[in-house]
Amino acid sequence: MTVALIWAQGNDRAIGRDNTIPWRVPEDARHFRDLTRGHRVVMGRATWDSLPERFRPLPDRVNVVLTTDRTWSSTGAVVAHDLRDALDTDVGPDDTVMVMGGSQIYDAALAFADMLHVTEIDVDVDGADAHAPEIDPERWVATHAGVWQVSSSGLRFRFLEYRLRSDGSTPASTTS
Ligand SMILES: NC(=O)c1ccc[n+]([C@@H]2O[C@H](COP(=O)([O-])OP(=O)(O)OC[C@H]3O[C@@H](n4cnc5c(N)ncnc54)[C@H](OP(=O)(O)O)[C@@H]3O)[C@@H](O)[C@H]2O)c1
Repeated sequence: MTVALIWAQGNDRAIGRDNTIPWRVPEDARHFRDLTRGHRVVMGRATWDSLPERFRPLPDRVNVVLTTDRTWSSTGAVVAHDLRDALDTDVGPDDTVMVMGGSQIYDAALAFADMLHVTEIDVDVDGADAHAPEIDPERWVATHAGVWQVSSSGLRFRFLEYRLRSDGSTPASTTS
C-alpha cells in the first residue's frame, strides 16, 4: 500500500481560510480529480464539511472521514476514528490511499506517507488559518517539479511530486 498526501498551497504554505480554499484554480481541481479517482480518500471532518453538498461524497472514490465524534455520520462518508484504521482498512497491497486534508490530517499522516503531491500556487492569502506541513528536505526529495503555468484564473501554479529519500531517489526533472 502507498500512502500519498495531496494538497495545494499558496505562499507561506497557506491551504485554507474560514474552512474554504481561498483561490480557484480549475487546472488543479482537475489534477486532484485525476490523481484521486478510483482511490480511497481520507479527510478530516472539517474538510468534509467544507465540500459543497453537491460534491460529496466525491464520486468514484471511497470517502473516509476522520472524526473523534462517535455519533457523527453523513451520507456517503465512511467514518473512521483512528488514522491508522482510516489508512489501512480494506486496501490492497498495490493500492494507493490519498490523504486529502486538511491541515490537522496532513500533520498526523505525514509520518506514514510515501509520496506527496503538492501544487504550489503563487498567491498570498491574508488571514490564512490552515497550513500545509513543512517538507523536510532531509527526508523528502522532489522527483518531479513541473514548470510554472498560468491558470485560466490568472494565478501561476506548478505541480510537484516528492518521495521519501532513499538511495534510489532521483533528482527533480522539470517538465510541463
Ligand atoms: N488547499 C488544499 O489542498 C486543502 C485540502 C483540504 C483542506 N483544505 C482546507 O483545510 C482547512 C481544514 O483543515 P483543518 O485542519 O481545520 O481540519 P481537518 O484536518 O480537515 O479536520 C479536522 C477534524 O478532523 C478530525 N480529526 C483530526 N485528527 C483526528 C484523529 N487523529 N482522529 C480522529 N479524528 C481526527 C476532528 O474532527 P471532529 O472535530 O469531528 O472530532 C477535527 O476537528 C479548510 O480551510 C479546508 O478548505 C485545503
